[in-house]
Amino acid sequence: MSGSSQNKRKILITSALPYASGSLHLGHLVEHSQSDIWARLMRSLGHQVKYLCADDAHGTPIMLNAEKQGMTPEAMVDGIREEHWRDLQGFGVSYDHYHSTHSPENEALVSEIYLKLKAAGHIKEKVIEQYFDPEKEMFLPDRFVKGNCPKCGADDQYGDNCEVCGSTYDSSEVKNPKSAVSGAIPVLKESKHLFVDLKQFESMLKEWVHSGSLQTEVANKLEEWFDAGLQSWDISRDAPYFGFKIPEENNKYFYVWMDAPVGYLACLKYVCDQQGEAFEPWVDRHTNHEMVHFIGKDILYFHSLFWPAMLYGAGMKLPSAVYVHGFLTVNGTKMSKSRGTFIKASTYLDHLNPDYLRYYFAAKLSDGVVDIDLNMDDFRQRVNSDLVGKVVNIASRCAGFINKKFNSKLSGTLHNQALYDEFLSESQAIAVLFEARKYNAAVRQIMALADKANQYIADMAPWVAIKEEVQVEEVHQVCSTGINLFRVLMTWLSPVIPFTARKAEHFLNASLEDWFAIEQPLYDHNINQFKPLMARIEAETLEQVMEISKQDLEVKETSVIKVESNGQLAKDPINNQINFEDFAKVDLRVVKIVAAEAVEKADKLLQLTLDLGGETRRVFAGIKSAYDPEQLIGKHTVMVANLAPRAMRFGVSEGMVLAAGPGGEDLFILEPHEGAQPGMRIK
Ligand code: MSP
Ligand code: ZN
Repeated sequence: MSGSSQNKRKILITSALPYASGSLHLGHLVEHSQSDIWARLMRSLGHQVKYLCADDAHGTPIMLNAEKQGMTPEAMVDGIREEHWRDLQGFGVSYDHYHSTHSPENEALVSEIYLKLKAAGHIKEKVIEQYFDPEKEMFLPDRFVKGNCPKCGADDQYGDNCEVCGSTYDSSEVKNPKSAVSGAIPVLKESKHLFVDLKQFESMLKEWVHSGSLQTEVANKLEEWFDAGLQSWDISRDAPYFGFKIPEENNKYFYVWMDAPVGYLACLKYVCDQQGEAFEPWVDRHTNHEMVHFIGKDILYFHSLFWPAMLYGAGMKLPSAVYVHGFLTVNGTKMSKSRGTFIKASTYLDHLNPDYLRYYFAAKLSDGVVDIDLNMDDFRQRVNSDLVGKVVNIASRCAGFINKKFNSKLSGTLHNQALYDEFLSESQAIAVLFEARKYNAAVRQIMALADKANQYIADMAPWVAIKEEVQVEEVHQVCSTGINLFRVLMTWLSPVIPFTARKAEHFLNASLEDWFAIEQPLYDHNINQFKPLMARIEAETLEQVMEISKQDLEVKETSVIKVESNGQLAKDPINNQINFEDFAKVDLRVVKIVAAEAVEKADKLLQLTLDLGGETRRVFAGIKSAYDPEQLIGKHTVMVANLAPRAMRFGVSEGMVLAAGPGGEDLFILEPHEGAQPGMRIK
């Protein structure tokens, strides 16, 4: 193996696009960690990588969610995209760009692909009957019809499956149907829909399945789907819908799953335009450019049937690979809010080093479609014993001598060149394991070598030898060997634990980002002062994270309207406008804070008692990170006085106070001029 530019591959690497409807949780991080390790490895091997992701912004749930929050969908998905991207960066996920499917590039591309499919005769029209909410005047997706299960009679079941008896059915079979949106009784109504005729792609898909692009178990699953017969795919939705209008149609929208995978290419297009690079070679069938998708097992159908069919129908290159992973469980079961195991990415980041989790996932991930378990005790022990106890330990045992006795300079020869060469001889095999996504095997191999390095240092016992004047040069060479072995291990682990790698780079005074640089050991090289690279995980911290996760549900409902950190208005000012009547509905009042106290068991909330000039209100506000309660008492601020009361775990919140800022300590309540008295209306 060598880093020569001749073997340079061009690879587009993607993760599935998270829905712009909620926060990222540790389940999502399985995928982002898996793909990021792979992308970083590929860069380290010298390949040209475009590693991309985006938020999946469209669809009925997102539209209704925004409405519930009194926001335009555009404003809501903008805010969530920023939050997602912040969390991902917090975990060191190195996307070259993080886009949104609600973008002009995506609209142009999905329309282009659709029109090509249509011109080639792949689109069929069909009139279908579907439940319609007469009050909301909208068609209802199955998930938004509720009623009695047609099989067992259980009430309050979703329109597509019963959580009591487990049967699946069509929403038209549900007894006593009700709209989950308005509660109205839905009526069946006809509408024309557009379908992709998937059957037309069957032989192409069958061939692609066996082209080596898919894992064996995935290929087998596809065979089952072929046997069951390919159904036409409904790609249109009627207004109201948050999505893109279908060209040459009247008020029809692309179904969210039509434009979502196109979002991969839209993001690529955006990046190519930014960098002045041509987009076409990436989708041209005749180039060697690769397209690799990382996804979870729940969205395989979309990526292995619909998506290749769309690409093929539009004359584009098919994915080189679709890599499917299993689901995350925590402590052996599905993540659960009440158990505190539904942990948001941001909650984790508030307390723990991201490298811990990345390492643990790597130690567990294989190339199979298997679920992986985050067992909290195992997590702590594994990270403490492997990363702190083995890898970092090598550096900390050798660094002191080099720093203190040898003026921070490594020796000109190694004491044990053979051991170094033995490590080097494993480098290719480890790269191959990583590339094959057998991260667990790669990590096992690296840790076996870390054991060897530690054994070597223990055998040489430099702390004993240093006392003998005649052995001082040997100590220099032994410790230099140790530091060089540490450098090799950290180069291999660099894609897995990037934050620690950056610290190690500073200590080593050498980059760890080139897989092949270790072929040349560091001789006569100046290093920096050693500082601890990683702390141990404490059991209490994990307990704390789970305790806080139990409250996350409530904290989400914090009574503060946050202005986004960059202060920008929503991207689409036209759709984001409200009329004067809407504005006039909001009753903004000057209030005086007469009491303020921390809410026990909620790390973000303060309970405020507000005087509106006679009347008092209780409001829970998520501003604890920015204010001590005492500091607030006596201040004047602004509240929304006519907000419907909201029940929270701690009591009813009777309004909202306004605050601005990126969050944390930088969150500021509004303070009106002294002349404004409690109760005054803001107009
Ligand atoms: N928006 C779609 C994907 C569109 S791709 C063109 C979607 N979004 S999602 O937010 O629900 O999931 C995003 C990814 O996270 C999926 O690959 C999904 O499998 C993965 N995971 C979501 N929960 C997960 C776990 N608990 N465990 C592991 N992966 C999980 O689907
Ligand atoms: Zn049932």
